[in-house]
Amino acid sequence: MTATAPEQQTAEVVYDVKDVTLRFGGVTSLNKVSLQMHRGEILAVIGPNGAGKTSLFNSLTGVYTPQEGSITLAARKGDTLTSVLGQKTHVINRMGVARTFQNIRLFPALTALENVKVGVETRQKSGPIASMLGMPWQRREERESTEKAYELLRFVGLTRRANDLAGSLAYGEQRRLEIARALGTEPGVILLDEPAAGTNPNEKQELAALIRKVNIEDNISVLLIEHDMKLVMSVAHRLVVLNFGEKIAEGTPEQIQKDPVVVAAYLGTSEDEAQAMTEGLEVQTIDVREGLLDEPGAAGTEGGQS
Ligand SMILES: Nc1ncnc2c1ncn2[C@@H]1O[C@H](COP(=O)(O)OP(=O)(O)OP(=O)(O)O)[C@@H](O)[C@H]1O
Ligand SMILES: [Mg+2]
Repeated sequence: MTATAPEQQTAEVVYDVKDVTLRFGGVTSLNKVSLQMHRGEILAVIGPNGAGKTSLFNSLTGVYTPQEGSITLAARKGDTLTSVLGQKTHVINRMGVARTFQNIRLFPALTALENVKVGVETRQKSGPIASMLGMPWQRREERESTEKAYELLRFVGLTRRANDLAGSLAYGEQRRLEIARALGTEPGVILLDEPAAGTNPNEKQELAALIRKVNIEDNISVLLIEHDMKLVMSVAHRLVVLNFGEKIAEGTPEQIQKDPVVVAAYLGTSEDEAQAMTEGLEVQTIDVREGLLDEPGAAGTEGGQS
């Protein structure tokens, strides 16, 4: 394997999904879905409501075990592809996969810092007993996890919120905090399920900048589910489109925006979805390296048109 600069995509496979079928009783939420995710890329999964996007994430992370097909993973550089089917979520997490959820799952009564420490501490060796006894190495780990958590809060632009309760943060801040917590587990791959859902245009811009930063500065492969076409088309290197549990298209943002099958799938659903897709069509894709070094918050200059 050759050494690559962090921003370079490689052809190395991170997730190899082959002919995956997932059924719930009479509902087939994934039907013979195949896709490959490459190291260093931002791959987006789009599709109308109920298309199977979250089901795919849940299959990749061990929440569900598909009845058919195979899923192999090599999350961190140098790993060999290993099956994740039947593995528990915490095992897959230790294999280098972190995720955020469509519905935010923070601990609202813990501070922002404590939430991130939860992520960091999954990588440490001390269990609760060592913590209670205050063993020397445990105290060192505690100090290290606090430092690491502060570093991650700074990375996502939330330093000044460190000691505020997670539940008191603005919506976009909570979304960024979830990403910080996920990064605490030192993943090779991060799965983001609608990270911009419910956020305002400025927060969306901040999230887009953060997703690029995670990808380029931390060299993490990103799998992104997102309904906001403007955001998707501006950050994704490549997209996979699901509809009724099937993969109907795959390609670059330019290819997907022009694909009549994709446009039809969106037009066949609600007006909001169709409008979202049409808005996406108007957007020029931008180079993913642009705006990379902007601090979150500094990126939102054109978001708030009304
Ligand atoms: N645990 C479950 N039990 C039964 N059916 C399920 C379950 N999880 C998903 N499904 C079904 O699978 C299909 C795909 O759902 P999924 O949540 O994956 O869609 P999605 O693309 O994430 O949609 P959205 O954009 O609304 O989040 C839907 O018909 C859904 O009802
Ligand atoms: Mg979903």
